[in-house]
Amino acid sequence: MEQGEKIIANQEEFFNQNAQSQKIPTRESLFTTYANKEQINGFLWIENQRKILEYGCGTGTSLDIFFKNRQRNKYKICGVDIAQLAIDKAKENYPQFNFYKISNNKIPQIKNDSLDAVFMFHVLHHADKYQEIFREIHKKTKKGGRFLINDLTSNNPFNKLARLIFIFMPNFVKRKFGDDLVVGESIPKKNKVSPEKIRVQLEEVRFEIQEMGYGHLFFFVFGWLDRFIPFSKVTFVRFFYKKLISLEKALLRYTFFQNGAEVFYIKCIKK
Ligand SMILES: C[S@@+](CC[C@H](N)C(=O)[O-])C[C@H]1O[C@@H](n2cnc3c(N)ncnc32)[C@H](O)[C@@H]1O
Repeated sequence: MEQGEKIIANQEEFFNQNAQSQKIPTRESLFTTYANKEQINGFLWIENQRKILEYGCGTGTSLDIFFKNRQRNKYKICGVDIAQLAIDKAKENYPQFNFYKISNNKIPQIKNDSLDAVFMFHVLHHADKYQEIFREIHKKTKKGGRFLINDLTSNNPFNKLARLIFIFMPNFVKRKFGDDLVVGESIPKKNKVSPEKIRVQLEEVRFEIQEMGYGHLFFFVFGWLDRFIPFSKVTFVRFFYKKLISLEKALLRYTFFQNGAEVFYIKCIKK
C-alpha cells in the first residue's frame, strides 16, 4: 500500500502523529489470531517472568494482547519508546506501569542487570543501529534473562504483489485498512530486516539463541482478501483456510520458503 504515499523517515515524528490519529479497530476474525500467533506463542515463553520491558512499546497494542488473559498485578512492566505521545497513550491505559521516552537507543531509567525479560515487536524495521539496541538490552537484562524479538522481513513476494492493488484503488484500500500504519497520506520509512544478520548481531553481544522461527508465507494475502470480502465467515471457506494454514506451516520448515516469510521471531537468553 505504499505507492504514491509520502514516506516519513523521522520515526519519532511519524509515531507521534500516529498516536494521535483515530484508528478503526480490526474486525476479529480467524486472521487476527493467526496474524498475531508468533506474539501470542512468544508471550507464553516469558509469561512467568515478573520484571518485563517492552522496547518500542508504542501506544501499548502488544500489551493489550499480553493482558487479554493475564493479571496485571503479577507483573512489573516497563515500556520505552522514542515517541512521547505514544507513551502518553500507553500510560493512560496502563497507569500502574512505568513508561519512558528514550533517545539514542539508551535506557538510563533502568538499572543494569535488573530485567527478567524483554520483548520487542515490530521495532527493528523502523529502527537502525540494531547492535546498539541489543547491547543496551543485554546490559539491562539479568543473567539468564529472556529476550524475545518479533519483526517483519518485508521479503514476502505475495505481499509485494498484493500491495499493487493500492495503485488502482487507493481510497477503497484505505477504507479497508483503517487500522494500518497510515496517517493522512503518510507512512513511516520501513527497512528490510535480515533475520540471519540479526541472529549474528545478537550472538556478538552475547545473547544465546534458543529458537528462531518464520511465519506468514501467503496467508497475509488471504487475510487482506478477507477484509474486502469476509469469506472466513463461511464455514466451508474457514475449513479451506485452516488447511492452508497447515500447508503454510509445513512449507516454512524449509529454508527456501523461510526466505520468503513475512515474519520472523527469535528467542534468546543473556549468557
Ligand atoms: C510498529 S510500532 C510497534 C509498537 C509496538 N511494539 C506494537 O507491537 O504494537 C514501532 C515502534 O517502535 C518505536 N521505535 C522506532 N525506533 C525506535 C528506537 N530506536 N528505540 C525505541 N523505539 C523505537 C516507534 O516509535 C514505534 O512506537
